[in-house]
Amino acid sequence: MDTNEWILNNKKICMCKGITRKTIVDAIKKGAHTLDDVAIKTGCGTGACHGTRCDDPVEELLKEFPGE
Ligand code: FES
Repeated sequence: MDTNEWILNNKKICMCKGITRKTIVDAIKKGAHTLDDVAIKTGCGTGACHGTRCDDPVEELLKEFPGE
């Protein structure tokens, strides 16, 4: 893994819960197909802001990895 890939993987998507992009992408690849699925599998969106900051980036990842 090169540095850029490491940085991308470890980017915090859910800042309230400290959940990384890789954790969310892995959840999508293991069958999370909706925002609620991702929340159940990772806790993303269940922090203090209730998804105000992370719902949109998660929706983008769901579009980026469709049907995985
Ligand atoms: S950033 Fe994800 S719940 Fe606040």
